[in-house]
Amino acid sequence: MEKFYITTPIYYPSGKFHIGTAYTEVLADTIKKYKKLQGYDSFLLTGTDEHGQKIENKAKEANLEPKEYVDIQVKSAKELWEKMKIDYDKYIRTTDEYHIKACQKIFEKFLKQGDIYKGTYEGWYCEPCESFFTETQLVDGKCPDCGREVKKMQEEAYFFNMKKYVDKLLKYYDEHPDFIKPAFRKNEMINNFIKPGLEDLCVTRTSFDWGIKVTSDTKHVIYVWLDALMNYITALGYTSEDEELFKKYWPADVQIVGKDIARFHLIYWPIFLIALDLPLPKTILTHNWITMKDGKMSKSKGNVIYPEQLINKYGLDATKYFLLREVPISTDGLFTPEGFIQRYNYDLCNDLSNLLNRTVSMVNKYFEGVVPNYNGTPNEVDLEFEKEAENAILEYEKYMKDYEIYNSIQETWNFIARTNKYIDETAPWVLAKQVEGESEEEIKIKQEKLKSAMYHLIASLKEIAILIRPFMEETSTNILNQIGIDSKSITWNSLKEYKNIENIKVIEKGEPIFMRLNLEEEVEYIKNLMKN
Ligand code: MSP
Repeated sequence: MEKFYITTPIYYPSGKFHIGTAYTEVLADTIKKYKKLQGYDSFLLTGTDEHGQKIENKAKEANLEPKEYVDIQVKSAKELWEKMKIDYDKYIRTTDEYHIKACQKIFEKFLKQGDIYKGTYEGWYCEPCESFFTETQLVDGKCPDCGREVKKMQEEAYFFNMKKYVDKLLKYYDEHPDFIKPAFRKNEMINNFIKPGLEDLCVTRTSFDWGIKVTSDTKHVIYVWLDALMNYITALGYTSEDEELFKKYWPADVQIVGKDIARFHLIYWPIFLIALDLPLPKTILTHNWITMKDGKMSKSKGNVIYPEQLINKYGLDATKYFLLREVPISTDGLFTPEGFIQRYNYDLCNDLSNLLNRTVSMVNKYFEGVVPNYNGTPNEVDLEFEKEAENAILEYEKYMKDYEIYNSIQETWNFIARTNKYIDETAPWVLAKQVEGESEEEIKIKQEKLKSAMYHLIASLKEIAILIRPFMEETSTNILNQIGIDSKSITWNSLKEYKNIENIKVIEKGEPIFMRLNLEEEVEYIKNLMKN
């Protein structure tokens, strides 16, 4: 079985995850499930990035030891992923003993190779926050966290010699066009960070304790990015006694990151790997952000929305649908309460749920629930429709090659609209109606067309159920149940058997899978959630 290794960033466990964080996770989970349906041995890694000054400060505020603090946060992170049915295979915590050991070994290796050297770190220091900031991180010359005065300070630190590897990195970019997706991020990296002169990266600190100690110089802790990035290989057992997973899954097939951390993953991460003489991931996929009308989500603006709030009221599938449908990979998406409810009402209720309902009730009405076997000569309308059914799969798969899920979903909903149009084109209620004075031949032709219409509708609903399965599993299963197909028998290959729907019986009375919501009431409801 061919392997597929996919990773999410490891999140800072410094508070509840909002829908933005959940977006990254859902994207990765969808790709994992898509690959799994296709028969890959797919492995999804996620986890938490638990060291550093910020976490240390947060723990202090909560009167807890850092480890106690992160344990609580991690518990709620795992509960959220469980609620969202995220199918991860491993959860790494950077406080895990194996990760700590591996990072220490890697650090010493870099030191020995001469990639890491000792120097002086200069930055702006905020005493109350006990944090260093770079010039660009300051807000109006003040601390970006608390807004107080900052002082220029120096401390001894180790640096990674990035310059040594820049040429190799650029060569790699050139020779591997699939490495950076979407491709425009490559020029962004080159123009914004590499051409102006790539600075060496500070990889240790002495001003706080909450981190992995450098074994050969214990007053230093490894600064978060070196510690954090290594998770993708330490999770697989790299440098441990058991490297089986590492041998099997590395290099990663795709690593998902948000645009804010693209630089760390497109420049520093590959350089670390080159320095370790390891193969680089096949693709790093950078996605844009979900934003609010007034910009970034933040507690102080009172515009934060948490995934569980939407899931509890509108269900998991509707929540995931909105996130994936509204945020394209390469531009920012917008969350508005109106947008959310409209997508629910139009896309899920009008387009999808009604299509299923109408079809199931017609098969019941005209054929007592038994989907007719259709083997007549297809007419022009049917032939064209079949072609579009096939095309929808091709387009979907084409976009998924570049992990452009947003476009794949759009193609799916185009096909749902096309299927609804097919009902209008074939007008089954006209075909079913006996008209006075019709010849036997005419009745037979109409009956054949009616059979064909039902047959094509059910085949298309099966196709739609499979296409949405990677991100709306419950809905997919529900659709398949209603049209009498065992969801357990479904794989991505079932799409090739559009016409394999012999001898099936639809459910007698199918419940609507999505019910229309009252726009004003629900918008009010969501706005209130955001205020609290
Ligand atoms: N700990 C680092 C990552 C280390 S990976 C070796 C980190 N953590 S984070 O918790 O701040 O962010 C995790 C991910 O969530 C990032 O990919 C980030 O882009 C994503 N998102 C945070 N807010 C987001 C939105 N509003 N929209 C979409 N994704 C967002 O960075």
